[in-house]
Amino acid sequence: MSSKIIPVEEFDYIVFGGTGDLAERKLIPALYRRLADGQIVGESRIIGAARGEMSDEEYRKFANDALNEHVGKDELDPAVVKTFLGNLYYRSIDAMSDRGWQELKDLLGDYEKVRAFYLAVGPSIFGNIAEQLHKFGMIRERSRLVIEKPIGKDLKSAEALNESVGKYFKEEQIFRIDHYLGKETVQNLMALRFANTIYEPIWNSAHIDHVQITAAETLGVEARGNYYDTAGAIRDMVQNHLLQLLCLVAMEPPPSNDANAVRDEKLKVLRSLRPITGDKVMTETVRGQYKEGASKGKAVPGYLDEIDNKTSDTETFVAIKAQIDNWRWANVPFYLRTGKRLPERVSEIIIQFKPVPHNIFSEVVGSKSANRLIIRLQPNESVQQVIMIKDPGPGGMRLRQVALDMQFEEQFDTRAPDAYERLLLDVIRGNQTLFMRRDEVAAAWEWIDPIIEAWDTHSHECEEYIAGSWGPFSSVALLAGDNRKWIQTKV
Ligand code: BG6
Repeated sequence: MSSKIIPVEEFDYIVFGGTGDLAERKLIPALYRRLADGQIVGESRIIGAARGEMSDEEYRKFANDALNEHVGKDELDPAVVKTFLGNLYYRSIDAMSDRGWQELKDLLGDYEKVRAFYLAVGPSIFGNIAEQLHKFGMIRERSRLVIEKPIGKDLKSAEALNESVGKYFKEEQIFRIDHYLGKETVQNLMALRFANTIYEPIWNSAHIDHVQITAAETLGVEARGNYYDTAGAIRDMVQNHLLQLLCLVAMEPPPSNDANAVRDEKLKVLRSLRPITGDKVMTETVRGQYKEGASKGKAVPGYLDEIDNKTSDTETFVAIKAQIDNWRWANVPFYLRTGKRLPERVSEIIIQFKPVPHNIFSEVVGSKSANRLIIRLQPNESVQQVIMIKDPGPGGMRLRQVALDMQFEEQFDTRAPDAYERLLLDVIRGNQTLFMRRDEVAAAWEWIDPIIEAWDTHSHECEEYIAGSWGPFSSVALLAGDNRKWIQTKV
C-alpha cells in the first residue's frame, strides 16, 4: 500500500507442505506479488518440500497453476512470472525419516542468506521437522521457523508443541502466524490509536460503553471437517484471531512499536481477562451449530451433513461477553462473536461510545446520541467515525447519524494487500511485532481452557441456527440482557 517499496535482503523460503492448500492459495501468490512490487530481489529462492516425488519443473508448473488460479489476470506479468518460477525448487522429503534431508541441505548450500522454514503442515510433525533440521545442521543464526495455528488444542498441548520446536529454535527465531494481525486495517488500529491524539484521552471506561468484535463468514467448513470438528469456533477463531483483536483494542500504549514492547502490552491484557468459569458459561457464552438453510440465495446443508459425524456437538458459532479487569476497562464488556454460515462475510471492530450525558433536544426533534467508531477489516476495509449532525434543511432541529467514512480503496486507489504479503516478508526482516509470542499463546489458552471445561461440566450444548442467519437466539439475548444489541453495519 505504501508507495515506498524497500526491498528485503536475499532469502531462501523453504515451505514444508509446499504442495498443500496454504502454499497454493496464499504463500505462492503472496510471494509473487511482493516480487512484482520489487520487494524481492537478487537470488531469493522458494523451495517447496513435501513427501511426494516431483521435479523442479513440475513444481514450477504447480506454482504457475496456483498463480493463474489465485492472482488476478491483470496482476500477472509474463516477465515477472518467469523470474518467479525460475527461483522455485522442490525437494521430496519425509519428515519421519532421513529421506530427502541431505538433498535439501545440498540445495541450501553454504551461502549465509536468511533461511525461513515455513511449516505449512499439520502440527503433529512440527517437532519432527525441527529435529531433522537440527540433525542435518541446517539451523543457523539467521534461520527462522514459521508455524501456523492451531498451536495446540489446550494449554498443555500448546506448551508441548512450543517445546518441541523451542528445543532447536530460539524464541527470537520462531514466528507464530496469526494472519489477522497482517490485515491492513488491523495494523491501522495501531496507527489510529497511537499516531493520533484525539482517541487516547477517551479510550477508556469513562467514555466507551462497550466494544463489539465480529468475524462472520458465509462459508461452511468445506473440506476441513476433520480438523474443524476437533477444534470448533472457539479454538479455530476465538483463541487466536478474536483475542488478538481484543488485545490491540485494549492494550496500553507501548513505549515503542518494537515487537516485545507491543507483545508485553498484549500479554497484560490477556492476563487481565476475567475468567469465565462454572455456571457463568451459561450466561456469558453462547454456542451454536448451523443446520441446513440458505447462503447467498442457495440451499446449503447443515454442519452435521457436511462432516462425517452425525452426533457432533462442535460449535460453528460462538459469542462471548469478555471483561477485562483493569482500571481502563472496568465495566466495559467486549462482546466477541464469530460463526460460519452467517449471512455476510464481515469482520469488524465497533467501539461504542457512551451517549451524551444530557439531551438538550426535545424528544420530537432528536434523541440521545452515541458516537461509534467502526473499524472494518473486511470486506471494503474502512474506518468510520459515526457522529450526529443536524439534518439539512429549514424543517427544524432534526438530528441524524452520519459516518465520517474513510474507505481505503477510494482513498488510496490501490489493492489492499493480503495479510500474508506483509507477514511473509516480516519474517525475512526479522520483525516479530505481528506474530504471537509463546507466553501470549499460553495466556490465551489459560483463559479459553476453563470455558471449554465448563461447557463440558455444565453440558452447555450447541443451539441450532439456520445457515444464513446471524446465529442462535441466545446470541441476541446475551446483549439484550445488558440492554444492548449487536450492531449490524451495511456490508
Ligand atoms: C482461519 C480459520 O484461521 O481463518 C478458518 O482456520 C477461517 O476457519 C479463516 O475461515 C478466516 O480468515 P479470513 O481471513 O477469511 O477472515
